[in-house]
Amino acid sequence: MKTISLNVNGKAHKGLAIEARTQLADVLRDELNLTGTHLGCEHGVCGACTVLIDGVPARSCISLAVACDNAEITTIEGMDDDEVMKSLRTAFTEEHGLQCGFCTPGMLASARDVVLRMPDASDQEIRYAMSGNLCRCTGYVGIVKAVKRVIDERRAAGLAQIVNPRTEVGPVGSGHAEVMAADPAGIVLPASTAPKAAPARATAAGKLKADDSRPMTRLQQSFTVAFPRDEVWEFFGRLDQVTTCLPGASLLNEPTATHVEPRLRVKVGPIVADFEGAADVERDDATYTGTIYGSARDTKSASATRGEVEYVLSPINGGAETRVDVQVGFALTGPLAQFSRSGIVMDIAKRMTDAFAQNLHQRLSNRDNPDAAAESQITELNAGSLLFSVLRSRVTGFFKRLFGH
Ligand code: FES
Ligand code: FES
Repeated sequence: MKTISLNVNGKAHKGLAIEARTQLADVLRDELNLTGTHLGCEHGVCGACTVLIDGVPARSCISLAVACDNAEITTIEGMDDDEVMKSLRTAFTEEHGLQCGFCTPGMLASARDVVLRMPDASDQEIRYAMSGNLCRCTGYVGIVKAVKRVIDERRAAGLAQIVNPRTEVGPVGSGHAEVMAADPAGIVLPASTAPKAAPARATAAGKLKADDSRPMTRLQQSFTVAFPRDEVWEFFGRLDQVTTCLPGASLLNEPTATHVEPRLRVKVGPIVADFEGAADVERDDATYTGTIYGSARDTKSASATRGEVEYVLSPINGGAETRVDVQVGFALTGPLAQFSRSGIVMDIAKRMTDAFAQNLHQRLSNRDNPDAAAESQITELNAGSLLFSVLRSRVTGFFKRLFGH
């Protein structure tokens, strides 16, 4: 547990004991009972949770509370007397800028920023500036009209422009979190405070070592193969064979004993990612362990990933079978990064591992008949069930929040 202090809506809250992983939105809603901050996607996409951190709009669902230690937080409840907010509330009501109101607290927090920062904004510029806030029922015509109306009214009234010191749009944080400086261990820094690091880099040996100064999502998987360890170990040394055991994977060119350049296609519902990359492999015959360092880029979006996979083979059942323990660490950047903190990644990893284990078994069982092995391979993950399990966990989470257990 960490102890932090927050100044919320002008009131000091000292000694808040929270888990390091707790997001600011959860502290606001669950600890301080400020339920005007709404949670929609919880992935930084919809903007419903937008609050002001040190005067700057930020997603509270992806802002770690420890990173906001000693920050000034302003939620919708703290903006009752704010002049701009009063005008916006009137304009939203009169221009039909809301219906159910779920998106409205975040919408207003972003709109206030636009009004103060962009005194000459056109409709098009307002749309662009507000595009990080999603409304599920009203539509955006009334919202844009309301924001434009307040901008025009203020300009006509010659109201002093409030100078916003921010010069660029991007992640914000309090920047004065003592708790992080004192004990950063185990805390994943938000992007704004994380040290800038180079992507995967080549070592003297030409390896694509992952840079460990940036946080990674880590997961662990194990599976059993019904073949002795030496046979599995020998197979793992053949990178072309191992790569094609991964559903959706293919080779971009002929691998060497320690270097492979694969393509990996992953489909989750309507999202298709086509990663192309390179990986280097280190193996230790004495300990039956191996490490794969790699990086890849999705050819369809600007997403990129880098990571490492460590595996160890252990004999079980008197040496007749082998247990494979795999540890994966990876970092995703770009549009697909929103999935890296959710159960979706675990779900994909589990299915990928199960399919890999099955394919591996087929390959080992049909070493004399590769065509038969290829025919029985799982070549694509089951996108439908992946999506279903994601939706199921979302619905479960929604009802948990609704009923509090
Ligand atoms: S709930 Fe935070 S962005 Fe959607
Ligand atoms: S008013 Fe209903 S989601 Fe925006």
